[in-house]
Amino acid sequence: MSKIVVAFDLYGTLLSTGSIAKELASHFGQEKAESIATVWRRYQLEYTWRLSCMKQYEDFSEVTRKSLYHALGEHGVSLNETETSGLMRSYDSLSTFPDVNPALERLKDNSSIECVVFSNGTSKMVSASVNGSEELSSSVFKDIITVDDVRTFKPAPEVYKHLAEKVGKTGQMSAMWLVSGNPFDIVGARAMGMQAAWVDRAGNGWQDKLGSEPTVVVKSLEEVADAVEKHARDSR
Ligand code: 2OP
Repeated sequence: MSKIVVAFDLYGTLLSTGSIAKELASHFGQEKAESIATVWRRYQLEYTWRLSCMKQYEDFSEVTRKSLYHALGEHGVSLNETETSGLMRSYDSLSTFPDVNPALERLKDNSSIECVVFSNGTSKMVSASVNGSEELSSSVFKDIITVDDVRTFKPAPEVYKHLAEKVGKTGQMSAMWLVSGNPFDIVGARAMGMQAAWVDRAGNGWQDKLGSEPTVVVKSLEEVADAVEKHARDSR
């Protein structure tokens, strides 16, 4: 039987970008740092969507750097080159969410599931984040697939098609799962016919009103293996 591919989004799903606030706090204090980190992440994603709409492309490290400057500017503060580079390096040592490793260890023993990382980052940035995060049990991942090859960002249809090509599932979108904490990514994958598990760690429930809802909502990544297996049984 061919394997079910489970593609994990990286930033905001396996790795917490919130941990960058700690590094920012060393410059601006706790409260301002949290606000800058939130606005930085918001502009980082907004920039990707705007670039896609304009049919332009800048790689995710560039987008990340520019959106940091935007967030700093809005807060009336700035950082020099060295400090900015230090912050960018903190992308190489992000912390994992606590549910991640137990879930990955479980998936490692599951012979019917193949796991990959699927991210907006460049291969260099994503490999550095995956390998640099000492906490992340990354050996379960068979591949790291990034949007950089197709030079556009999630949720453009091309990037999910690219994922299918890379994992040998062209024309079999429904045999692939996306696991993501980012609703826009979930809706993008569903629009292309993929299954999708939305990770709702905060327990706020699905609020996105655009497109299809996730196939399943999980509170923790530890529920993913069961959800994928149950879905496979139910659709036989
Ligand atoms: C990722 O692609 C969207 O940041 C998210 O890793």
